[in-house]
Amino acid sequence: MRKKIVAGNWKMNNDSAQTEALISELLSKKPEHSVAKIVIAPSFVNLQAAVQQTHGTSIIVAAQNMHQAESGAYTGETSVGMLKGIKVNTVILGHSERRAYFGETNALLAEKVNTALSHNLTIIFCFGEELADRQGGNHFNVVESQLREGLFHISRENWSSVVLAYEPVWAIGTGETASPEQAQEMHAFIRNLIRNEIGAGVADATSILYGGSVKPDNAREIFSKPDVDGGLIGGASLKAGDFLEIVNGMQ
Ligand code: PGA
Repeated sequence: MRKKIVAGNWKMNNDSAQTEALISELLSKKPEHSVAKIVIAPSFVNLQAAVQQTHGTSIIVAAQNMHQAESGAYTGETSVGMLKGIKVNTVILGHSERRAYFGETNALLAEKVNTALSHNLTIIFCFGEELADRQGGNHFNVVESQLREGLFHISRENWSSVVLAYEPVWAIGTGETASPEQAQEMHAFIRNLIRNEIGAGVADATSILYGGSVKPDNAREIFSKPDVDGGLIGGASLKAGDFLEIVNGMQ
């Protein structure tokens, strides 16, 4: 059975007091009906406190990024060893904002993937097409290249450390969501690609999350699709009530 996951990507939001308050609220209001694992990704400076605050609970704390090098003269960057040192064992890689604003290419992401896997981190690997790609009917090709160039080189064993997050760029932070049918169509395409390229066992076992303007009022329908195994939530993960309602949408 594939894992069901709802992950909150807090991006550059929440200072330390806000981080603590939001985690407290999440812990006190626990989702009642959901089968989903909860992941939260606070900013780097708040990761250690978040790990401590969630210790002994089922909430998993993830980083939003990491550098591909083990260490060195990379001012302002964070290494995999630093994450492991504070017991962060999950990292989001390839988010469209990293790709668009920080020049992260598929080739660079392949390096980050290798570094993360060599230290046994779980990766939430993000990818997705831009509006022009979809309008031009090119979305399947774009997604396929992102996966082939950034991820498909890993060994079959390493796939158990990978969670995929399909996030059409035109749906991120815009209030415009892919329809449940569009999400399902792409997720089925991705699973099929993995089935053909890697194998049926990996295809069936890999969780594929949808991200892009998931809200309490649309989560349940998107999550009900057979190839959608959860969500990566930006804006709506900043309010405990909304986030937990989304988590509860994963039945
Ligand atoms: P959004 O962001 O939910 O605010 O659209 C999703 C994401 O960027 O992961």
